[in-house]
Amino acid sequence: MTDRLHRFLARQFAEPSGLAGRLVIAPWLNRIGRRLNDLALDLLQPEPGERLLEVGYGGGGLLKRLARAGPARLVGADPSPAVPRRIAGAELVRAEGAALPFCDRSFDAVVSVSVLHFWPKLEPVLGEFARVLRPGGQLVLVFEPPEALRRWAGHRYGFQLWSEADVVAAAAAAGLALEERRQGSGRKPDFFVGLRFRKGAA
Ligand SMILES: C[S@@+](CC[C@H](N)C(=O)[O-])C[C@H]1O[C@@H](n2cnc3c(N)ncnc32)[C@H](O)[C@@H]1O
Repeated sequence: MTDRLHRFLARQFAEPSGLAGRLVIAPWLNRIGRRLNDLALDLLQPEPGERLLEVGYGGGGLLKRLARAGPARLVGADPSPAVPRRIAGAELVRAEGAALPFCDRSFDAVVSVSVLHFWPKLEPVLGEFARVLRPGGQLVLVFEPPEALRRWAGHRYGFQLWSEADVVAAAAAAGLALEERRQGSGRKPDFFVGLRFRKGAA
């Protein structure tokens, strides 16, 4: 793969844009993210009647699967103009993880898959997730740790290499305690991690 293609893909993964983003990249994200989304669902175990938020929903593959759990409210937030604008059973908003247009304690669970690589700082985003979660609510993050992401040359074009320790520390500072850790593997990416946190009851 040429350097130019790596740069193009890195930019598109960070925020799908234009016709290529809408017609090629967003649907493709659903395919390459399938195993990571399986892990997110396993960790989340969504119950009917819950209020769920996915941040950085990309092609919408996970939102469609979450809709089948019968949530009371299902919302997808993503800043890209090229991701799907309609998904049955979900409200979709154009928004960044660090500035969510929701009231405090609006959700029972927040999930975000392969998105934290695009946050220059973890604290503001995890603080925002904690704000919109109800006390006792859950946050699930699935991502590639640095040793996995480094194997793809495109990571050099703007990806943040957050370690598990970085993520756990920033979550703790936001009042989110780690409850479960799992790892998964696939073809590409070949190794990824899922973390489930719970917001304290205070
Ligand atoms: C690599 S894709 C992952 C999409 C999907 N979660 C998946 O696993 O297939 C990253 C997505 O996060 C979105 N994104 C990038 N920066 C974001 C931010 N600061 N807040 C919320 N979403 C963001 C992008 O627009 C893109 O749709």
